[in-house]
Amino acid sequence: MIIAPSLLASDFSRFGHEAARADRSGAEWLHLDIMDGHFVPNISFGPEVVRRVRPHFKRFFDVHLMCSKPEILLEPFAKAGADGMTIHVELGSAVTPLLWKIRSLGKKTGIAINPPTNLNTVKPFLSQVDLVLIMTVNPGYGGQPFIGECIPKVQQVAAWRREMGLHFRIEVDGGINNETAVQCAHAGADTFVSGTALFAKHNLGQAVRKMRQLAANATPQLF
Ligand code: DX5
Ligand code: ZN
Repeated sequence: MIIAPSLLASDFSRFGHEAARADRSGAEWLHLDIMDGHFVPNISFGPEVVRRVRPHFKRFFDVHLMCSKPEILLEPFAKAGADGMTIHVELGSAVTPLLWKIRSLGKKTGIAINPPTNLNTVKPFLSQVDLVLIMTVNPGYGGQPFIGECIPKVQQVAAWRREMGLHFRIEVDGGINNETAVQCAHAGADTFVSGTALFAKHNLGQAVRKMRQLAANATPQLF
């Protein structure tokens, strides 16, 4: 089980300090939400911020690109210190070349899917990715309520992974707290992005350990 605190929910005036807090918490990954004001109706931060934050967190930088034109951003984020980059399946015919590009930069590949998008759209890419990100809110903002209707997507992706003998991670993102993390773990998720529910806690380390433990105890229920 991997817990990935999302920097989007941290104090924007102190990114370095917040990333260091996430580092001390023992979280395996730091999730970095990149919003372009076009693919989603909000703007977050760019490669320079990621580059400056990089020295403060020693482990995996999980860059989630909610962007209409990731092709212009892959190299800058790779140089800034991304370890993995996730692009959205809603980009259609651009997806395959983008995944190739991420791979050619030596980074882990991810594909994300929004709540209204049909899950069949990700199936052709499963053998090309290290991560499938099931969005459990409509992307754009932190602090939104979890959309429970997305849980069957997690179950279906987990079933496909089994049937196809693949090993990608299944990540959930949006409205993840201890309760919804357990629901997603039962469905087969193994990687949990959590912004508001973690960064709001005074003791981030304790919150990360608790979420990881609860998720680990929630064995997947095969269907
Ligand atoms: C939503 C982002 C999420 C966000 C989650 O557009 O992709 O990563 O940070 O935040 P919470 O956990 O607050 O829903
Ligand atoms: Zn995200």
